[in-house]
This record gives sequence, C-alpha cells and structure tokens, in this order.
Amino acid sequence: MIIKEIVKAKEILQQNGLIAIPTETVYGLAGNAYSEEAVKKIFALKNRPLHNPLIVHLKSVSSIYEVATEIPENALMLANKFWPGPLTLILKKQNHISDIITAGKNTVAVRVPNHPFALILLHQLEFPLVAPSANPFGSISPTSAEHVLHYFGQQIDLILDGGECQKGVESTIIGFENNNPILYRHGSISIEEIEKITGKLSIITNNDSSPNSPGMLSRHYAPKTDTYLTDDVSALLKSCTGKKIGLLLFKNTINNNTSKIIHQEILSTSGDYTEAAKNLYAAMHRLDQHKLDLIIAEKLPDEFLGKTINDKLERATKKE
Ligand code: TXA
Ligand code: MG
Repeated sequence: MIIKEIVKAKEILQQNGLIAIPTETVYGLAGNAYSEEAVKKIFALKNRPLHNPLIVHLKSVSSIYEVATEIPENALMLANKFWPGPLTLILKKQNHISDIITAGKNTVAVRVPNHPFALILLHQLEFPLVAPSANPFGSISPTSAEHVLHYFGQQIDLILDGGECQKGVESTIIGFENNNPILYRHGSISIEEIEKITGKLSIITNNDSSPNSPGMLSRHYAPKTDTYLTDDVSALLKSCTGKKIGLLLFKNTINNNTSKIIHQEILSTSGDYTEAAKNLYAAMHRLDQHKLDLIIAEKLPDEFLGKTINDKLERATKKE
C-alpha cells in the first residue's frame, strides 16, 4: 500500500505538484526544489510571505555539496552527528538554488529528515524537496496526517500518512559566522546537545522588521484561541471569571473544583521533555477545538527541550 503511494507521490512531484510528507519533526508541504512552479505554489498555498525562506530537504549528508558550498567544519561535524535528524543548517548556497527558496539571501537552509517514507521518497527522486511545515502561515504546525487534512483538505494532491511525528517540534536551525555556530531557531535538538559538538552557541536576537530567521518571528505557532503563558497557573485561574478555560500543563493536572476548566492537556505525566515536545502541538490542536474563551499554558523549566517548548509557547501567546 505504501509502495503504491510512494510511486504516486513521485509522479505528483515530478509534475511540479505538491504533497504532504511525514518527517520526524512535523509534516512538510513538499515540492520539487528545482521547479520554480512548485516553489511558488508552496508560498501561495501556505499564504507565506515571500521574505520567509524554505528548507531544502536532502537524501544524505553527501548531497550537501549539490546545494551548498564553503561548508564550515562545525557544520560537517553537526551533519555527521545528527543527520538524518531534526537539525537544519544555514549554509552558503550554490548559485543554481533559486532566490525564491532563499528569499534572496546568499544562504540556503538544508536538512536530511529522519522518517522512512521521506527518506525512501528522496532516494527515488532526482531532485531535493523544499518542505515548510504543512500549515497555513503562523498557525500550529501539523504532527499528524489528520492535522494536514484539517488545514488543506483537497487542496493538496496527496498526503503521505506516516503516523504521528516522533519529535513533534520543528528542527533546530543553526547558522555560522565563519566556523562559529549561531542558533536561528529553537527546535527538537536542545542547545545543550549542539554545544557538546561545537562549543558555545550564540543566539540570534529577534528582530521582527528584518528577521534573519522568521522562525524567530515573535508571533508564530499560534492557536486561534486566546492563549496565555504563566509560571503560576492557579493564580491566573483565580483572576479569570466567567470564562471557559483550557489548560496546557507540563506534568500535573489542576484540581478541577470549578466549572470554568473545560479541558486539561498534560504534556508528560513523568515530566519527560522529549515526550512533552512530542505532545505539544497535538495538545494545542485539541485545545483549539474546544470552543474555549482562553487557554492558559504553563511554563516549563528553562532547560533542554523545556527551553524549546517555552520558546514555542511564548510565540503562541505573544499579543500583536
Ligand atoms: O522540522 C522542520 O524543519 C520542518 C520539517 C517539515 O522539515 N520544516 C519547517 O519549515 O519547519 P518552515 O518553513 O516552517 O521553517 C523554516 C525556517 C523558517 O523559520 C525560515 O526562516 C528558516 O527556516 N530559514 C530558511 N532558510 C533560511 C536562511 N537561508 N536563512 C535563515 N533562515 C532560514
Ligand atoms: Mg513552519
């Protein structure tokens, strides 16, 4: 059954169509990176601003040279350590990479995804795939085929269903100045893990008017429901009267002796960050479906993937 679907996926991509693919992080909206028609369709379907560049997905570490050049030593060390896996590297682009993909920058974002369907497909194609997360711009990323269907319905020719995404948050994005690594986006590899390979990372500061990486745009990954982030959920709950509330909690439920709590989501009862990251977006999608007045999210400890989750929650709760 999946073999048939991969054949179909290949055909659609060869004809410049778009499909949704599973990756270990989130589902991607994929098209031929060497087809201007496909690349333009991705921006249009996602309603994505043209200044927000796309990630090129490769089949292997050695394909890096097809799209990038002047690759720093630290980039190769990270690629060898984490690929296939949830790491995106920003590298100097080869001339033939389209300016639409890179939003006019002289760098290109690349990664090798770690999902068997994505890898089988990439190995069968003569071109890499550009694949942003398969959600309309600014909304919560999809971690299941159902999420993609909910967003795009029949607008995509095929959704390859690879089950729930194992990691559940996007790839960590690292760029370089000379050989010095810079964090462009928090993701499913923690800063601590990256620093074990490269030494100290610098963190790019957020600047909405000219974001170096729009993953650092302040409002992003947002539920439709008004959402607040706090260290002290009970205190905030007390101050909300006459509202239907949903809770997004790290490990413990809140004693529900009030009718205002309609729904609670627990990210990991054992307090495991990896499990919490995996559940984050699915929990946000579910909460958004409860017709709540507001969602209160609990801040996690600021370490390892707790930092990544806090970063996503901060962007989800940022008021415009
Ligand atoms: O986990 C992931 O990375 C997923 C899966 C599908 O692979 N993809 C994903 O793509 O999150 P997207 O388009 O939602 O996010 C790509 C991020 C954006 O924040 C974009 O600004 C950044 O990558 N980016 C792409 N090219 C860049 C470049 N040349 N310089 C700086 N940032 C870049
Ligand atoms: Mg995205």
